[in-house]
Amino acid sequence: MCGIVGAVAQRNVVPILLEGLQRLEYRGYDSAGLVVVHNGQLERVRSIGRVAELTEKSANTQGLIGIAHTRWATHGVPSLRNAHPHISKDLIAVVHNGIIENYEVLRTRLTTAGYEFTSDTDTEVIAHLIHSHYARGNSLLLATQASLAELIGAYAIGVVAADNPDQLICARRGSPLLLGVGIGEHFIASDVSALLPVTRKVVYLEEGDIAEVGRHSYQIFDAQGKRVERAVQISEMSNESVQLGQYRHYMQKEIHEQPQALADTLESVCNSQSLVPGIFGAEAAATFADIDSILILACGTSYHAGLVARYWLEEITAIRCTVEVASEYRYRISVPNPKTLVVVISQSGETADTQAALNYAKAHGHLHTLAICNVPESALVRLCKLRLLTRAGPEIGVASTKAFTTQLAALFLLTLVLAKQRGRLTTEQEQKHLHELRHLPSAVQKVLDLEPEIAILAEQFANKHHALFLGRGLHYPIALEGALKLKEISYIHAEAYPAGELKHGPLALVDKDMPVISVAPNDALLEKLKSNLQEVRARGGELYVFADANTHIQAAPGIHIMQMPEHAGYLSPILHTIPLQLLAYYVALQKGTDVDKPRNLAKSVTVE
Ligand code: M6R
Repeated sequence: MCGIVGAVAQRNVVPILLEGLQRLEYRGYDSAGLVVVHNGQLERVRSIGRVAELTEKSANTQGLIGIAHTRWATHGVPSLRNAHPHISKDLIAVVHNGIIENYEVLRTRLTTAGYEFTSDTDTEVIAHLIHSHYARGNSLLLATQASLAELIGAYAIGVVAADNPDQLICARRGSPLLLGVGIGEHFIASDVSALLPVTRKVVYLEEGDIAEVGRHSYQIFDAQGKRVERAVQISEMSNESVQLGQYRHYMQKEIHEQPQALADTLESVCNSQSLVPGIFGAEAAATFADIDSILILACGTSYHAGLVARYWLEEITAIRCTVEVASEYRYRISVPNPKTLVVVISQSGETADTQAALNYAKAHGHLHTLAICNVPESALVRLCKLRLLTRAGPEIGVASTKAFTTQLAALFLLTLVLAKQRGRLTTEQEQKHLHELRHLPSAVQKVLDLEPEIAILAEQFANKHHALFLGRGLHYPIALEGALKLKEISYIHAEAYPAGELKHGPLALVDKDMPVISVAPNDALLEKLKSNLQEVRARGGELYVFADANTHIQAAPGIHIMQMPEHAGYLSPILHTIPLQLLAYYVALQKGTDVDKPRNLAKSVTVE
């Protein structure tokens, strides 16, 4: 999704803006641009290539104040004319994340008033609107405030004026934005990682906030225009954690970080002798005692984590659990139940659909809310009563990997805590699960050792156009996740089915050109799965089976076996995810795609 960086300093801000944009590249974008105020004029540079191209084009640009942007197209194709910043009458420049829903009405009105539009974007109306109020003698702050009052939709914006070299204005509603606090300089960004080279001191703007930012001070006003103080926080994100290090891609690095990410997420639990609800927040025990069902809301990979959790929750805690795609739930007339625990799962904590689904649930009387999230300061965490933070560290690759496995670990903890509170977990069982959780990072490490073997296997997929993933029970969502990973980064069309469903339709697709990848844990459904695999083999399908030890599935012509460790019981979905991530990664390498920034996708989906 789009990214924003801005700076007002006593030094040339262009290198700060460019480095910030480079650090936001992982979010996904198709064009980039910046504007600085220099000698009373706006100097704008835009590029439809990578930030590296913008850097080349900006070699002779300098200024002490400026704003910059990476654009992920919504209104209007990726092109130079649609790239931000957008400028009104050489006076006002704006960068914008989000979507303005009433832009057509505003565009017609502004055109009638004499404004000339040079792009197809919704953003350009903001620039002209601000100009229209500024030209009437309002300050830049007041002009922006008046303009925002006319907008319907979501935004995070940065604004500068050619005749005001000392102040930039920024505001947010529905899209994240933060201030960076320096000495004699201040910054704005849509993501803290953009600012780490210049400051760690950040102020997260809240919904409806607008700020006037100068070199030595800043003032924040809330949605009602009242001056407010927002806490200065020290970001815990380390600069090294966003460096590539010895790895070829962030995705590869993040796959390998999973043992550590799981160890960090489970740290407090594994260091104690028993599980307590307090890990979800002070009110957790009382809240959990009051619930009779669970509703999980999430998107994409996080939704798959929710699907795994449903199996755990219903089997171990006997609490009814439903899992819904957030973008569907938010528009569905459903039956509210105030005794439901609403669990939102999100890596970023900023996904627009998940946020809207949570707000929708709350508006319908669901007050028991829990966020499972990787970003402590994110909107979802702030909106929920309870939280469990995964400690995966920054995830840069668009394809989610370590965020997923740490979400699973967090959801398993939720299952155990609820089971214990309901008297469905004996002390012995609790100790056994704690022991297995302590062992999990090293078990994951062992699976990572399959990497060279999977790299070779991936060669067989380079010329394929389709793939089928199979799983059963707890591992059906893992098949879904494997298929999602493959399609996201290799662009191979992949589908996942519960293996028992094959004969009800998808078997018609199977032939020698359709690789079938199966997750084969040594669990209660193994024999059923074996029969399903026979159905595939009998139709000439090529099988790739990730099989636990002692499954007795034999390699044969057309049957390739990848040997997994011993069955890990309830934690098995976490282990079986790893080889599917590696497979997608190495197939993408074979295909030569942009692994960390796959086409058309964005890391944080902050628009609907
Ligand atoms: O940040 P979130 O977990 O809320 O993001 C949800 C999805 O957009 C995300 O999981 C997406 O599906 C990933 N690209 C999957 O790899």
